[in-house]
Amino acid sequence: SSLEDRIGETEKGDFDHFMLKEIFEQPQTIEETFKGRLNPGYSEIVLGGLQNVFPRIVDARRIIIIGCGTSWHAALIAEYLLEEYARIPVEVEYASEFRYRKPVIYKDDVVILISQSGETADTLAALRLAKNEGALVLGICNVVGSSLARETEAGVYTHAGVEIGVASTKAFTAQMTVLTLFALKLAKEKSTISAKEFDVLVKELAEIPEKGRVILQQNHRIQEIAAKYKDAVNALYLGRGCLFPVALEGALKLKEISYIHAEGYAAGEMKHGPIALVDDNLPVVVVAPQDAFYEKIVSNIQEIKARKGNVIAIISEGDSGLGELADDLIEIPGSQPALAPLLAVLPLQLLAYHIAVLRGCNVDQPRNLAKSVTVE
Ligand code: G6P
Repeated sequence: SSLEDRIGETEKGDFDHFMLKEIFEQPQTIEETFKGRLNPGYSEIVLGGLQNVFPRIVDARRIIIIGCGTSWHAALIAEYLLEEYARIPVEVEYASEFRYRKPVIYKDDVVILISQSGETADTLAALRLAKNEGALVLGICNVVGSSLARETEAGVYTHAGVEIGVASTKAFTAQMTVLTLFALKLAKEKSTISAKEFDVLVKELAEIPEKGRVILQQNHRIQEIAAKYKDAVNALYLGRGCLFPVALEGALKLKEISYIHAEGYAAGEMKHGPIALVDDNLPVVVVAPQDAFYEKIVSNIQEIKARKGNVIAIISEGDSGLGELADDLIEIPGSQPALAPLLAVLPLQLLAYHIAVLRGCNVDQPRNLAKSVTVE
């Protein structure tokens, strides 16, 4: 649908752009997405749309998650959560690659299609292929009654509301919320997570909206950082573990709306290529909270600084250690590592937004891009 059609359904209110409004809606849309799916004591996760097929999911041999663009990044993060907690092998595929290979699909595979719009042509083609092979096909989708919702056997809706900005923001965090609920529920049913760990993670999920609000309060500070880097030609984004896909997503946001060439990389791969690009003109956004990878990420930052790169570090609140080393710091509240993607992506969305606005770009409707790619 055109921007004009979609505008008909909603308003920007006090925000200059839909994208900014949608970034700021996330504490609420994340909450909308988990609310009603957690029982009052947070001891159970209820995914009504999957109830009938859940025994098949528990018995699955493998999970294949498929999407395009930002939805594919959500899939990559889910791979970490599902393998860690539910101990099931996961493969993540671009829909456009999956559909044209001769993928091996077993009848006891579960194939999850992720799509905000539910109308992406490649994702629908992948769905039909997997369904034909007899796998259980599930959808995670934002648009009620979309083709994806109709053609999958079961699924879960994200409750992000209408997303107008072409570059996906709130749909992504809603997808992550659903995938987190799904991974924890599956882990519980398979008894691959301890009751304690389940409890800690579910309670943490319930706190994400409030922590998100704290991050969004730094909007002005992030705008100041954006002003420093708005004329960059290239940018590099680094992260590790489930924050590696967040680095990919940060880079995608920047390139989509500001037209700056940006690459996301697993920080551990930096030495195998991207380090050759580092000079005093290269901003490097490093997602560096105090998790198990902290020491390794700090040494990545030292290597970038030794080559005069500019480091914008996303750090844990109160981490004074990186203050000396990085050029710019954006703090995020501490969280369980599995939930950090939901927080770390927020400043990256804002950074891309402000850089694009300062460059005079049409952030809601970037050139050459479409909200949903319904033709190949
Ligand atoms: C387009 C949009 C992206 C989106 C992707 C997948 O490229 O610009 O924001 O992530 O399609 O869309 P879907 O609706 O399938 O999630």
